[in-house]
Amino acid sequence: MAFQCNYNIINSLISTEELLRIDGQSQRIKGIIDTGKTAVVYKLEIGGQYFALKKCRERFENIFHHEVQIRSKIEEIKTQNPVLSQYIVDTIYACSEKGIILSQWVEGNEISHFNESIFERIFDALLEIDKAGLFDFDLHKSNILVDGSGFVKLIDLGGMYSYNPLTEYNNYGFTYPTYHFVERFETRFFLRSLLLEEYNGISRSSVLLKYRIEKEKALKCYNLKREWLSERGADSQVVKWIEGFLTQWSQALKSGTKLYELYARELFRSCIIDLPHSINGGHLDKAIIKINEILRILNEDYDCIFTKENICSDFCNANKREYLLEKYSKILDRIYMQQDRERYYD
Ligand SMILES: Nc1ncnc2c1ncn2[C@@H]1O[C@H](COP(=O)(O)OP(=O)(O)OP(=O)(O)O)[C@@H](O)[C@H]1O
Ligand SMILES: [Mg+2]
Repeated sequence: MAFQCNYNIINSLISTEELLRIDGQSQRIKGIIDTGKTAVVYKLEIGGQYFALKKCRERFENIFHHEVQIRSKIEEIKTQNPVLSQYIVDTIYACSEKGIILSQWVEGNEISHFNESIFERIFDALLEIDKAGLFDFDLHKSNILVDGSGFVKLIDLGGMYSYNPLTEYNNYGFTYPTYHFVERFETRFFLRSLLLEEYNGISRSSVLLKYRIEKEKALKCYNLKREWLSERGADSQVVKWIEGFLTQWSQALKSGTKLYELYARELFRSCIIDLPHSINGGHLDKAIIKINEILRILNEDYDCIFTKENICSDFCNANKREYLLEKYSKILDRIYMQQDRERYYD
């Protein structure tokens, strides 16, 4: 599959064949980012402007093919909804057979600290993207930049899927109510950052202060989402689902104890969901931190995560505590064994 959107910008300056030939030796290269799992990214100069050329790594062709497809869909949506270009990088040319994607280069920085204004900008972006019928599973910090105008912009679109926000929870329809865009931001980015902060000695109270600010902004954002859903006659099951978060979060914001209970529940949920990413990505040190937190919450805060109507019902019930303790202790043992083996062979 191949498509081109804003190719006229560079049409007379470079052919797609030349793009394909570009490697680390090319005169046009101004930088190489080799940290991505699925691709190598080259910063290119063409006609005095910068572009990102993403070249697929071997064995990641399927993920890359999906990214090409969804980018084509996103560019189609942008023709009706140009405001999306503020929040999602523009694609210029993409071809899954050739294994290349050319985008605008986003001059920007990763988000390195959290405050009211950054949460507002993140949720403004995610709400617009959601309303456009797009769901991003991979809101990892390396996939989001803040550009020169202060807009939060998604640059890695390989984890995006289209869905209907009026009739579905996410791109799985009604099957997985756990996934929604605030949860995605928390699981892939925010709560894992808070967990690492605590691990590195930042006090629980200062972590909870950031969490409170995030929850206040998330609440404001989902109130807007609920309004938008109601105005458009969304499916009542979707409206009820969003109202469930509004109730939980507004209750939690009423007191420090309730806020901590929600923090423990959501952190537990996010650690469980995110653990396979750490293990499969070979980040065993991060996996150990997550498992220790899961075990700590099971031991100390089980009452917070096990209540009838809570968001952890997918993971917990009254009979599951012993089972979960055993399961995660075993995973932890296996990781320690793997680390020992790696040390031995190093
Ligand atoms: N359009 C762009 N503008 C600026 N920087 C970019 C752009 N596209 C990619 N990058 C840089 O290259 C890095 C890797 O790109 P990207 O996340 O798309 O690759 P990936 O292999 O899909 O990553 P992942 O490991 O998340 O699967 C980004 O984190 C970012 O630093
Ligand atoms: Mg990425």
